[in-house]
Amino acid sequence: MDHADKTYALGFDVYGTLVDPLALAEPLEALVGEQAAPFAGLWRAKQLEFSFRRGLMRRYVDFDVCTWQALRYTQQALGCQLPESDQARLMDAYLRLPVFAEVVASLKALKSQGHRLMAFSNGVEASIRALLTNAGVLPHLEDVVSVDDLRTFKPDPAVYAYLAQRTGRPPGETWLISSNGWDVIGAKAAGLRAVWVKRQPEAVFDPWDVEPDLIVSQLDELPLRFGRVAD
Ligand code: LAC
Repeated sequence: MDHADKTYALGFDVYGTLVDPLALAEPLEALVGEQAAPFAGLWRAKQLEFSFRRGLMRRYVDFDVCTWQALRYTQQALGCQLPESDQARLMDAYLRLPVFAEVVASLKALKSQGHRLMAFSNGVEASIRALLTNAGVLPHLEDVVSVDDLRTFKPDPAVYAYLAQRTGRPPGETWLISSNGWDVIGAKAAGLRAVWVKRQPEAVFDPWDVEPDLIVSQLDELPLRFGRVAD
């Protein structure tokens, strides 16, 4: 297997792929006790739902606003209203999410193979840069591509086309790397190639008759396995 002569543009999804949005269960534990895990899960689910709906309705607000409104929703739904100072602390924690353990070494290895590495996120560029700086990831990426430039959200096909445009590579040489199945399907629908990072063994891929080009359980499988399918 020799893939050293072929390089690609790799766009890494951020939340769930590079950093762990569910790790908020820890700071949440001090605030809402045993509701921490359901709180973190509902907050993330609502954040995504709000972004999807806003994209469809063409009523754009940025992802930070989606996150903030999802936090307000979650408090009401679970009946645990937090003081404003705690809400501000939770929003700040969203900029300090922990990086998955294998990420930095994997990015270094992929970069040394000559691939071009970018973050590609629904998040606002400034927030993503702050988050990835805090996580120690930003120095290993060439650029940050945010859907905010287009004022719409994944999985709008326009944002995947925008990623390819920003990389300067044709869509077929631009890869999305994401743990979010809906994101992988969005990229494939737009003509990109895509890796599904199946971080949880029990994760289910939406049965839409669309398959990822490659499935890995962690990013450290990419430097070895990537070339095998990529050529
Ligand atoms: C991202 C979220 C949606 O685009 O995972 O980073």
